[in-house]
Amino acid sequence: MRLFHFAATAALCVILTGCSKAPGGASGAGGASSAAAAPTDAERQALLAALPAPYNTGDLLNGQSKFALCRSCHTITEGGPNMTGPNLHGVFGRKAGSKADYSYSSAVAAAGFTWDAEHLDKWLDNPRTYLPGTKMTFAGLHDPKDRIDLIAYLKVESGYKPPPT
Ligand code: HEC
Repeated sequence: MRLFHFAATAALCVILTGCSKAPGGASGAGGASSAAAAPTDAERQALLAALPAPYNTGDLLNGQSKFALCRSCHTITEGGPNMTGPNLHGVFGRKAGSKADYSYSSAVAAAGFTWDAEHLDKWLDNPRTYLPGTKMTFAGLHDPKDRIDLIAYLKVESGYKPPPT
């Protein structure tokens, strides 16, 4: 567990190209390795502000540090590879278990709903009780505030576009 923790932290540092930088301060960092245009800081803040409550109050820095728990299995960038789990770009508004180039468990493939913040909140609290039979071996993120921050981060980073008001 300690080893995993270390690996996750190290991965995050690589992504931030320097542990001292906040995600805000690291825009443009990553150079060639960060493929399709990641949002700029101003775009991140605008996206965050446009999210429905409570997600507009999400702490993106905490969300990013919680996403370190997911990075060993998921990428979130546009066109990022599937790993143990599917790439999460565009997951909001996507039918559960519907990414064509990924082989899901029947539990997720047959879930029948479309991912939104409410479904993700329940899923991330405890994937294996929410969709019994899933092959996502993640114990769950039990603090509701951590889930708000993580979902805000996922929305901002996964290419989600708020509906026009
Ligand atoms: C140990 C690997 C692992 C970790 C850690 C993990 N996942 Fe997953 N995830 C998977 C696998 C495998 C699946 C496919 C599940 C299935 O088909 O039953 C999946 C599926 C998903 C899905 C459904 C995607 C779709 O296309 O329907 C979402 C959303 C998701 N994970 C989000 C997360 C988030 C957010 C985290 C971090 C809090 C996380 N996962 C942590 C392995 C992981």
